Amino acid sequence: MGWGWIDMGYLEDKKRARTFYRYFSKIYDYINPIFYSKEMRDKVVEMGRLTRDMRVVEVGCGTGFTSEGIIKAIGIENLVALDQSIHMYKKAKEKFHLNFVWGDAENLPFKDDMFDGAISAGSIEYWPNPQKGIEEMYRVIKPGSWAVIIGPNKPKNTFFRWMAESIMLFPTVEEYVTWYEQAGFKDIEVVEIGPNRLWKRLAVIVAGKK
Ligand SMILES: C[S@@+](CC[C@H](N)C(=O)[O-])C[C@H]1O[C@@H](n2cnc3c(N)ncnc32)[C@H](O)[C@@H]1O
Repeated sequence: MGWGWIDMGYLEDKKRARTFYRYFSKIYDYINPIFYSKEMRDKVVEMGRLTRDMRVVEVGCGTGFTSEGIIKAIGIENLVALDQSIHMYKKAKEKFHLNFVWGDAENLPFKDDMFDGAISAGSIEYWPNPQKGIEEMYRVIKPGSWAVIIGPNKPKNTFFRWMAESIMLFPTVEEYVTWYEQAGFKDIEVVEIGPNRLWKRLAVIVAGKK
């Protein structure tokens, strides 16, 4: 791990991540498509097996790029979107009126077995305890429902890996799968994906059934 941020990336600290997104929210929608394409989002939604009228929670909704895909599948009234950054949510609110909940991925303010599905896109890399966040997604969905996460893939190149991990979490495919298994998920599926031919494996999508 670089730069001596104890044993985690600089932004794997909730307060730092909130401050970062306070400012990054202003340019997020210009930068995001470079790393996270519509095709990637559509694959996330597809792996969630979302159908009309399912009640779904999105963890780390940000400015609503993934929310938009989820809404198309289930209808806006059926999505509960959660984020710890009010500034990111304000950007989403300029686009549509989400049922928004301010909260923490690692301590979801919902009862057990409440939702028909859970999705989280590009948020796990900021969670200090990803296992806890995944367990929370498991807890709040009903048995038989699916939870899908897309997050970054650990870079193969040593220098890029050092750079990346200084900033945030870049798990391996094996780590994602282990976290899912330990949370209790079954039928786990993994897809490595990227926004273009150069970055074919930039991200990992993991889906699992409760
Ligand atoms: C890279 S953005 C992704 C936004 C959106 N999901 C998308 O598809 O573009 C990451 C989001 O995760 C949120 N986030 C980070 N840590 C969080 C936590 N512990 N609880 C809830 N949200 C968190 C950030 O505030 C930010 O809005």
